[in-house]
Amino acid sequence: MRLSLRFILPLILVLAGIAYGIAPLVDQLTLRWFIRDLNSRSTAIANAIQEPLLEQLAAGKRAKTEEFFSRITQDERLFAIGYCDSSTGKMLASRSLPAEIHCSDLDRWQLPQGHLLTSIHGPLHVTVRPLASESAPDGQLVLVHDMSFISRRTEETKRYVFYFFMALAGVVSLITVVIAQLSWRGWMAGMRSLLRGEGLLRKPSGGAQAPLPGFKPIARDLQRLIQELESESRARDESQITWTPEALRTILHSELSGEDVIVVSNREPYIHQHHGERIEVSRPASGLVTALEPIMRACSGTWIAHGSGSADKAVVDKNDCIRVPPERPAYQLRRVWLSPEEEAGYYYGFSNEGMWPLCHIAHVRPTFRSSDWAQYVAVNRKFAEAVASEAKTKTPIVLVQDYHFALLPKMIREALPDATIITFWHIPWPNPESFAICPWRNDILAGMLGSSIMGFHTQFHCNNFVDTVDRFIEARVDRESFTVSCGGKLTAVRRYPISIAWPPEADMLRESIPDCRNRIRDLNGLPLDHKVGIGVDRLDYTKGIVERFRAIERLLELNPDWIGRFTFVQVAAPSRSGIDEYQHHETQVRAMATRINGRFENQGPPPIKLRIEHHEPQAVYEYFRAADLCFVSSLHDGMNLVAKEFVAARDDERGVLILSEFTGAARELPEALIVNPYDADQCAAAMHLALTMPATEQRDRMRLMRGLVAEFNVFRWAGRMLLDAASMRRRGRLAEKTERGGM
Ligand code: F6P
Repeated sequence: MRLSLRFILPLILVLAGIAYGIAPLVDQLTLRWFIRDLNSRSTAIANAIQEPLLEQLAAGKRAKTEEFFSRITQDERLFAIGYCDSSTGKMLASRSLPAEIHCSDLDRWQLPQGHLLTSIHGPLHVTVRPLASESAPDGQLVLVHDMSFISRRTEETKRYVFYFFMALAGVVSLITVVIAQLSWRGWMAGMRSLLRGEGLLRKPSGGAQAPLPGFKPIARDLQRLIQELESESRARDESQITWTPEALRTILHSELSGEDVIVVSNREPYIHQHHGERIEVSRPASGLVTALEPIMRACSGTWIAHGSGSADKAVVDKNDCIRVPPERPAYQLRRVWLSPEEEAGYYYGFSNEGMWPLCHIAHVRPTFRSSDWAQYVAVNRKFAEAVASEAKTKTPIVLVQDYHFALLPKMIREALPDATIITFWHIPWPNPESFAICPWRNDILAGMLGSSIMGFHTQFHCNNFVDTVDRFIEARVDRESFTVSCGGKLTAVRRYPISIAWPPEADMLRESIPDCRNRIRDLNGLPLDHKVGIGVDRLDYTKGIVERFRAIERLLELNPDWIGRFTFVQVAAPSRSGIDEYQHHETQVRAMATRINGRFENQGPPPIKLRIEHHEPQAVYEYFRAADLCFVSSLHDGMNLVAKEFVAARDDERGVLILSEFTGAARELPEALIVNPYDADQCAAAMHLALTMPATEQRDRMRLMRGLVAEFNVFRWAGRMLLDAASMRRRGRLAEKTERGGM
């Protein structure tokens, strides 16, 4: 209302000004019209009375003529009339003829348009018309019209013009205000959705999605502008920050001050196991744990995970919590207990026999059982309850990890509608056709879309996810902003390539490279000048260990010089051994190593050393620092942090990384020797190249890769997600404020 008044008042004033401004024009115009009328009227009167007047004059009837004149001037407008005899210079006139008019100076009144005279009677119009006749003397007729009626009419006209403009002002203001209100509302709706981060290009109307007319182009521009500004400032901020735990802590403080950060994953960062009388604590072989552990150390908070260790229950407090890391507690680990049935259905069954092969195109058929699905739903629900009970505020930041918890984001959203939920999918996302075989595909997608941000390692996986949603779910996909709107809730789909801590912990690099080389060779019974390759993986069929062994065999076939001079140490952490496919895989890997070693028996040390056992990170680093090459041959991998760990371990800038093109890491580390793990000849050639690569080339490649990992480390990965979460929360708050302000 105030806004409307602010608009209408100036408009009325402007129009009133215009009305007053044109008043003199109206005066002049009407005067000109009336004079023209009076002139024609005078001519008409002169013509009409000419004949009777001349007759009377010819008859010399002076008195009659004067009476005739008096009769004529009874007309309201004809003020006076007179006749001037040109020969005598005498005037015969009605009594009202103004004194200023004499026969002697009649020429002065003889203008074609008449003459204006201001007399004591008011404004008068004087016209002179010649009269000629054979019977009467020549003379001139003087006609005087009263003009006071003109000013009366002009005043009246001016009044009407003024009223007209005022009415016009009112109508124009009204129409303008109505249009302005309508478009303002549209604008504000658009702005609000923009602030909420919504697509802007369409607005939901009763469930159906309708385009916002007239708003589209400007919305696009605005959105582009905001995105540019955001990415510019993010790029600027990111590149200016040296990403360390301290930097991450500072960001958490400034951007998300006092926020409640909760991480949820299946695998816990510390596992307590009974070893006889003792309880030992170990860190699992998990890329996810490798990445998240430094983050949690930096920002405290709570990590909720499945308590899978035999001594886990023995060490927690009454709330199932324990402070970790054991040597220097920095955050809280909340353990969730699963029954054997739950673990069998949710973890071994649906997660690792269903989702895992479904997402990795590794030619192992996914198995879907409804009993597994039921456990998967139940365990997701159990974790959702744990999140709700651990949340200290109504607006926590929850970092949900991986394919074990596809349903969790939606469940958390139901319990904590204002939580900021960032879900990170650590494994690949397949194309829609591959994903379509999952019987619960829609529930999975809907569950994931409970997230505020859905993160993947690569843009390729983001695209696959968005395509899948577009294909199977009733949701609005905006490919410009890469957002999905489902049931009024917006999810941003973003690429966050995961990484490792940089610099690596000092302890990991304490032992010198020569010491590591000697120790590892000694440990494996190899001569000190022996060439060593290293592979570190969970014993998983997606890692391409079989393909790797095939390539080693091929190397020895193609370059027999390496027989007895090169050994590949495969460190394989036992994994998911409750699943048949994993048991077969282990059998296959063992058999293959035995077969290949048998083939080159008695020709020096064996080509393959298989170490199927858990290794702590320090032992793994020792292998990395001792090796001449590291071979990562995953058949499909979200990122693969082993590749980045190897690079981080080589502060001597030596060693060659051979990397499968089917890992996310291959997109970030092109200086590695990139191979197709299914092509044994190509892999063998890469190994030969690595073993013969000059030190300078090794250094050049390693330097570039180390630079990248240093710059894009795990603190930056987490920082980017948390900064995005922070700006999303700011936008949400701003949108709320806008709504409350009633704009
Ligand atoms: O990094 C992918 C991943 O599947 C993680 O989700 C998981 O923690 C890790 O590999 C190891 O698998 P698991 O926890 O089943 O041993």
